[in-house]
Amino acid sequence: MPRAAIAGIGSYLPEDRLTNADLERMVDTSDEWILTRTGIAERRVVAAGEATSDLAVRAARAALADAGIDGAGIDLLIVATSTPDTLIPATACRVQAELGLTCPAFDVNAACSGFVYALQVGVTVIESGRARTVLVVGADAMTRFIDFTDRGTCILFGDGAGAVVLRASEEAGVLGIALGADGTGAEMLKVPAGGSALPLAQQVLDARQQYLTMSGNEVFKFAVRVIPKAAREALKASGATAADLTWLVPHQANQRIIDTVADRLHMPHERVFSNVAATGNTSAASIPVALDDLYTSGRLSAGDLVAVVGFGAGVTWGAAVVRWTKSRSSEET
Ligand code: UT7
Repeated sequence: MPRAAIAGIGSYLPEDRLTNADLERMVDTSDEWILTRTGIAERRVVAAGEATSDLAVRAARAALADAGIDGAGIDLLIVATSTPDTLIPATACRVQAELGLTCPAFDVNAACSGFVYALQVGVTVIESGRARTVLVVGADAMTRFIDFTDRGTCILFGDGAGAVVLRASEEAGVLGIALGADGTGAEMLKVPAGGSALPLAQQVLDARQQYLTMSGNEVFKFAVRVIPKAAREALKASGATAADLTWLVPHQANQRIIDTVADRLHMPHERVFSNVAATGNTSAASIPVALDDLYTSGRLSAGDLVAVVGFGAGVTWGAAVVRWTKSRSSEET
């Protein structure tokens, strides 16, 4: 059976920054409150006219360049997003056209767990022999769905995209994946309007129901319970333990969640990656952006063992254990 390994990685964050000082001018909050409760200092925000597909295309191009292949070699494109350019068609189709690909393309919506879900699909397709090379993108423009009068949510989210090229290989790169969902938690985190349940109408817009609502405390408790569980399941499926990990890369949602999870998994904090201070929560982009950050900053080497773990609306969760097989070209030269 062919196995799947990460052959290329790339990411993109939009130029515009939204700092805590900016938010202080918009809602009743403070830099100190945001830093203490979340660890976030700033986030990146899409520009006027920029959409999720634009972020995805930039990240995908970087991943293709890193893998040293052009689009002709891609057999399947999957975009994980919950903030599509439009409900119809899939954002993946816009990305496919922009990249000049001819392969099948579709979206996966598992909110902030979306990248791990899409990774599972890509890995399974490669292991089945139906494809040799799959482009997996996690991209979200969360700020388009955030109510910037709601201090409980607007401080948390940012925009971005990350992508990996998965390729068939003799040795497994992606060793094990564990996914889960519990739809009874659907109300915890949602965008109430804009779908078939509550189509957009003036009354809906007046009530600001096109924006994300969240029960922050409930999500926090869910996250610190489910992340260690998912990580342990993926580690078990990979025949590894937390002690074997070079890095744990959790979904970048809140530094307090990251620290609590590190403690529950008995991981030294210096081996638990965080860039949430600079990105905020970029939803499906958060894990591939974090991985790319580690890789491009030279902190990820061939042979390292990495666990990534996400959680999000649905509620959903997912973890993957990856043997990193790439060396950076700058390390090689
Ligand atoms: O991908 C998944 C996405 N979601 C998450 O990861 C969210 C997980 N949850 C969280 O990160 C945290 O629950 C929050 C950061 C959202 C909130 O932190 P918290 O420590 O759970 O605060 P809280 O909701 O219990 O609120 C404490 C107080 C409240 O005031 P009172 O009722 O004690 O007077 C809030 O009204 O803080 C107030 N508050 C704020 N104050 C200043 C809430 N938001 C803010 C704010 N600035 N931005």
